[in-house]
Amino acid sequence: MTERVDDRPRAPREPFERTWAALAKIGDRGAEGYHRFAWTPVDLALRGWFQNQAQLRGMSCERDRNGNLWAWWGRPGPGAVVTGSHLDSVPGGGAFDGPLGVVSAFLAVDLLRARGVEPARPIAVVDFADEEGARFGVACVGSRLLTGSLDPEQARGLRDAGGVTLAEAMRGAAADPAAIGRDEQALERVGAFVELHVEQGRGLAGLGAPVGVASAIWPHGRWRYAFHGAADHAGTTRLADRRDPALPFAATVLAAREAARRHGGLATFGRARIEPGATNAVPSRVDAWLDARAPDTATLTAIVDGVTAAARAAAAEHRVRVEVAAESVTPPVEFGGELRDRIRGVLGEVPVLATGAGHDAGVLAAHVPSAMLFVRNPTGVSHSPAEHAETGDCLAGVAALAAVLADLACR
Ligand code: GLV
Ligand code: MN
Ligand code: MN
Ligand code: MN
Repeated sequence: MTERVDDRPRAPREPFERTWAALAKIGDRGAEGYHRFAWTPVDLALRGWFQNQAQLRGMSCERDRNGNLWAWWGRPGPGAVVTGSHLDSVPGGGAFDGPLGVVSAFLAVDLLRARGVEPARPIAVVDFADEEGARFGVACVGSRLLTGSLDPEQARGLRDAGGVTLAEAMRGAAADPAAIGRDEQALERVGAFVELHVEQGRGLAGLGAPVGVASAIWPHGRWRYAFHGAADHAGTTRLADRRDPALPFAATVLAAREAARRHGGLATFGRARIEPGATNAVPSRVDAWLDARAPDTATLTAIVDGVTAAARAAAAEHRVRVEVAAESVTPPVEFGGELRDRIRGVLGEVPVLATGAGHDAGVLAAHVPSAMLFVRNPTGVSHSPAEHAETGDCLAGVAALAAVLADLACR
């Protein structure tokens, strides 16, 4: 395949590699990937790295009421051009999902300064808190609280696997959970938000392009299925006498795949808890979380309805009770309008693609002009230690982001 020529000069390699290397050490568990969860000591180390990067550049740094970090080039104020992403990860995550956007943001600032660019509007680099929802189960907590799309009372009560609430975790990190919630002042300052992110598929790899622009995010959500059966002895209870919740759960996993295939979407059970968790006991309860995504809301609804119907039928067959609850549902996002056209004007002929992955830019898009740039991922693998982007592509991403910021902040 012929590589599309990107004639924009790439950002210099050495500063990127140096900045990347310092960040890459934090929360790395080698072959087990990254474990960077909100408000843990690893998160605090990531936040320290961010503050240090701001300080190195003489940028003022602040933490907003919802735990998001902002580094400012220029006086914080309305109409700012904001860029950045998140630093937290899924369990066993890769190095790029989130951090690439934050590192690229700082390096784009460097590039503009080296070129003597003098923005007419402030530029801010942001690190949104708890994007993955790996610890408390709800994704994009920082941006959802900021925009008022997550109820602060509900957020404070979210619990991690050890029973610690978000409020307690925040207090443990010297943040005030009473202050969380829609932050009009912080939101008003955002004139536009541009998030650069590693691509989480092979779209750009297939097109031979290092950088693309997002067109849309699929509607998606998380649902919890709780199967209640009856614990009993694994060595003495006859099969016919059991009320084993693992059986309808297993049937539901298979039904999810089938519903996704039939309707043309995606459905995954990536997390489950089986109780009491003894090898020699028929389980009493299975809690399982469905992640479903689809190109449009009607398809998403059809998939989830299909999974739920299958869960109810299988539960009835095995004399198990099932409860289904939506934990979070994110409507579709169109990155349309003026901002996307303007970015395409700056970047020229770059691919435009939709994604099934959720992002803070998707949350912000309902409130402020928002856009995303994707950097090629040669294998498409993400949410895995194998996630990768070539440094040359990352440098092309920094250069593209710098060009976009210059256009937005200087005119
Ligand atoms: C976040 O990365 C998500 O899309 O689940
Ligand atoms: Mn992710
Ligand atoms: Mn991400
Ligand atoms: Mn995400």
